[in-house]
Amino acid sequence: MSRPLVELAGVSKRFGGATALAEVDLTILTGEVHCLVGENGAGKSTLGKVVAGVHRADEGILRLRGEQVTFRSPRDSIAAGIAFIAQELAIVPDRSVLDNVFLGREGSALSVVRRRAQLAEYAALAARTGFDVDPLARAGSLRLAEQQKVEIMRALARDAELIIMDEPTASLGGAEADQLLRIIEDLRAEGRTVVFVTHFLADALAVADRVTVLKDGRLVRTSPAAGETPDSLVTSMLGRSLGSMFPDARVDGPSDGDAVLQVRALSRPGEFAGVDLEVRPGEIVGIAGLVGSGRTELVETLVGLRRPSGGSVRVARTNGPFRSPRHAQRAGLVMVPESRKDHGLVLGRTVRENVTLPHLDQVSRLSFVSRARQTAVLETLLPEVGLDPRRIDSPVGELSGGNQQKVMFARWLFERPALLIADEPTRGVDVGARAGLYALLRKVADEGSGVLFVSSDNEEVIGLADRVLVMRAGRVAGELTGEVTEDDVLRLMFADETREEIA
Ligand SMILES: Nc1ncnc2c1ncn2[C@@H]1O[C@H](COP(=O)(O)OP(=O)(O)OP(=O)(O)O)[C@@H](O)[C@H]1O
Ligand SMILES: [Mg+2]
Repeated sequence: MSRPLVELAGVSKRFGGATALAEVDLTILTGEVHCLVGENGAGKSTLGKVVAGVHRADEGILRLRGEQVTFRSPRDSIAAGIAFIAQELAIVPDRSVLDNVFLGREGSALSVVRRRAQLAEYAALAARTGFDVDPLARAGSLRLAEQQKVEIMRALARDAELIIMDEPTASLGGAEADQLLRIIEDLRAEGRTVVFVTHFLADALAVADRVTVLKDGRLVRTSPAAGETPDSLVTSMLGRSLGSMFPDARVDGPSDGDAVLQVRALSRPGEFAGVDLEVRPGEIVGIAGLVGSGRTELVETLVGLRRPSGGSVRVARTNGPFRSPRHAQRAGLVMVPESRKDHGLVLGRTVRENVTLPHLDQVSRLSFVSRARQTAVLETLLPEVGLDPRRIDSPVGELSGGNQQKVMFARWLFERPALLIADEPTRGVDVGARAGLYALLRKVADEGSGVLFVSSDNEEVIGLADRVLVMRAGRVAGELTGEVTEDDVLRLMFADETREEIA
């Protein structure tokens, strides 16, 4: 029988007036994979941070291998054999991948010998994980999924007995997420203990020995994964069961009004080439493809974050390409960026300020829009995106990771755009809120906007989109309409043609 590795007894944690954890009793057994699930704001990250020494509990005790411990900082927990992969990535952008992986382990001298040893150790880590990231690249230059891999390798490099992973797959593609599940199984086979926080309930059940459900900071139950189903977890997470995840498709099809987005032969060297794309009012178009197939680069180009080398973009009645997101916004095009990316949220400002910030121009031009009117709009909009309207004047930095993503939706739906683009819109968002966001996107489309989204979750693409484009190696590999199956999407994602290099 395995021994308890970590025990929390009566642990509570408050932030100001808000209770993040309330009298939690939890045992993590040596050698188990223990998943934590719960709605956005349920307390999962806070629990991880208490064990990792980032936060100190207000009440209750923490025991490690049977002994009561007090961690004053993450340093203490690392010394005790605990590695923590935080939900908000902690990459040092100006250092190399290698430096980031061995961060906190640098010896005194930075000798050539030491560096050679690190490179050898890095090669072993890369082989073990199957992660292919250039050790000499500047960490800040990497795409989000690669940064996530750096964080995972750092935790493994620490050779910890307990590894806490807070939504490590939120920015990974499907294949990479599967790879991480295999890594977790390997860690268990080595006798290590893993705490895994995720919103992907099927993943949780595939890999966990036991699952704990948190709700409103309280522990609902801890049970063997074998006795749970995604449905049983949803019911105790939300306190209700969830009907169908996806809204019905529009019955009458997209309107035949003029396209809200028209893209012709758009190219950017090394990223994507010859992309043709159209979105009509009332239509939801999904882009599937592997991480690295050029999807994020494409939508970032549409919204003015990157400059195309050729081709044309037209949004409603304005010709692009756009010089900047502000320029795109004036034409009616806005984007909710990939979750966890630098959102442009001002963490010290309130939800209200963050949502209305990009709209102040219009507001002052059209004369004064009162705070009362703002409040009225937000009181409808916040519940629609899955946020408690009582948080309207809370600083965004005090919201949980998933709830920050919802603020971005509110920001870009505060005024209805001609075209809303969303990149991985629901990563990090709990299942209940996810169904709500899907319904909201349908409603926005029904009211006449176009919606274009990128997702690595094929089920989401198929369930939500009226039309699916699949990108492969920087090109649109195909378009699917009608009854689309996952098989159709996978076939286009992986079609085994010789990969054309994009010059
Ligand atoms: N630094 C902080 N200051 C104030 N409140 C906080 C802080 N960190 C968390 N909270 C609050 O504590 C509660 C629990 O947040 P936590 O981040 O643990 O949720 P979570 O379960 O990880 O959610 P998610 O799935 O969105 O990541 C939330 O109400 C949140 O607003
Ligand atoms: Mg969290």
